[in-house]
Amino acid sequence: MIKNDHPSVFSRRDFVRTILAGTALSGAALAEANAGIYQSITSINAKFLDDEAPDGAYWEGIRAHYLFEDDLIMMNNGTVGPMPKPVFNRLMRAFRTQAENPYDVYNFLPGFREGVRDKLAAFINASPDEVALTSNTTEGLNFVIHGLDLKAGDEILMSNLEHPGGLGPLGLKARRHGIVLKEVRIGPPHKDTAEIVRSFEAAISSRTKLIVVSHTVFITGLITPLRELSRMAHEKGLLVLADSAHGLGIMSLDMKNLGIDFFCSSPYKWMGTPTGIGLLYVRKDVQDKVWPTVVSTGWDKAAGARKFDPSGQRAEAMILALDEALDFQNRIGKVRIERRIKTLAGHLKQGLAKIPGLKINTPSDPYLSAGLTAFAVEGLDPARIVDYVREKYNLVVRTIGSKEAGTLGVRVSTPIYISTKEVDLLLEGVDRLARNRT
Ligand SMILES: Cc1ncc(COP(=O)(O)O)c(C=O)c1O
Repeated sequence: MIKNDHPSVFSRRDFVRTILAGTALSGAALAEANAGIYQSITSINAKFLDDEAPDGAYWEGIRAHYLFEDDLIMMNNGTVGPMPKPVFNRLMRAFRTQAENPYDVYNFLPGFREGVRDKLAAFINASPDEVALTSNTTEGLNFVIHGLDLKAGDEILMSNLEHPGGLGPLGLKARRHGIVLKEVRIGPPHKDTAEIVRSFEAAISSRTKLIVVSHTVFITGLITPLRELSRMAHEKGLLVLADSAHGLGIMSLDMKNLGIDFFCSSPYKWMGTPTGIGLLYVRKDVQDKVWPTVVSTGWDKAAGARKFDPSGQRAEAMILALDEALDFQNRIGKVRIERRIKTLAGHLKQGLAKIPGLKINTPSDPYLSAGLTAFAVEGLDPARIVDYVREKYNLVVRTIGSKEAGTLGVRVSTPIYISTKEVDLLLEGVDRLARNRT
């Protein structure tokens, strides 16, 4: 493990002890601690230009900047993932401001908001005018689905693998406005890009207006090929809304390249922000097709996608924490992060493929998958696997899917702070259970 010799950087234990003792550091000390962390990442970046994978000093150095308990192997980034120290520091600084000087919370902190929007826009290759700062993916999905003017009888296509965060607003829209929802089966097993696009194309009718699809499919880990899907949909005059709850921090995102109309994400799963901050991207050319949902006076004067920012007092601390999470990601590099996550997932899939009776529901193609891998072992209850690896290795994974849909299994995340040795522990545990099935 790389030793961090910057004097202002606390060990994980010291850091947690300080916070627990209630002697929260001053804003200046927290800022200095962050500067030390970035200095250390810059210096290991210089040492490991191309050679950071699969394990070793580079990623151990990065892992040391996370706050989760030392012996916890966190391989589930669903719901929420862990936070790097700089993000936690920034959050504490913002909350400290509210405790000590609430005047600054409304006079000073909101001044940072546009800078954060700019940074997030650059991170996803979009214009700041196309970025709304929501609270989470579900909110973004609701904003688009409820904000579009659709008439009774209009159709929306959705995949058979949508998350409740999308299914909820779709069901409400259908019931309230007589919209017809059509389900398109895309697997598992998942075929190739062309087949996925063809499945949607075949379901389009003259009444179809919108495709709603998970970019990061929570049940199987498929990464839906949005670029190809958007191209086909636009040729047919349709809009595409992507639920990419896991997208920020799991892969290098480029909105211009994807050509998508609407894109929602939750940075607290893979990018290390606190819960309560989200992304809604709305492509410039389609912004006038969507009404904002949560407004205060002045909404109609807001420039670009800012009109989709929820109104009322915002938790500025979350927006500042997002700023810091973007700095942390940028310092490592989003391409390097994607490569690391996919390398670990590839190692996991290769190991899983050797286990008897095991079926992987995630595509092996790295274009159609990233850091979520789902599998099932014939005759073995997925909950047994989850409990066994938790008890034996303190390793967290989760069950996913349903028996009726044939998707019931275990889902594993391979984030940047996990090592191949930890992936091997999981493989050892699954292999042992699979070989001792009764
Ligand atoms: C694909 C997908 N969509 C939507 C959601 C809901 O996300 P949130 O609760 O952050 O809005 C999740 C949560 O894990 C998800 O995996």
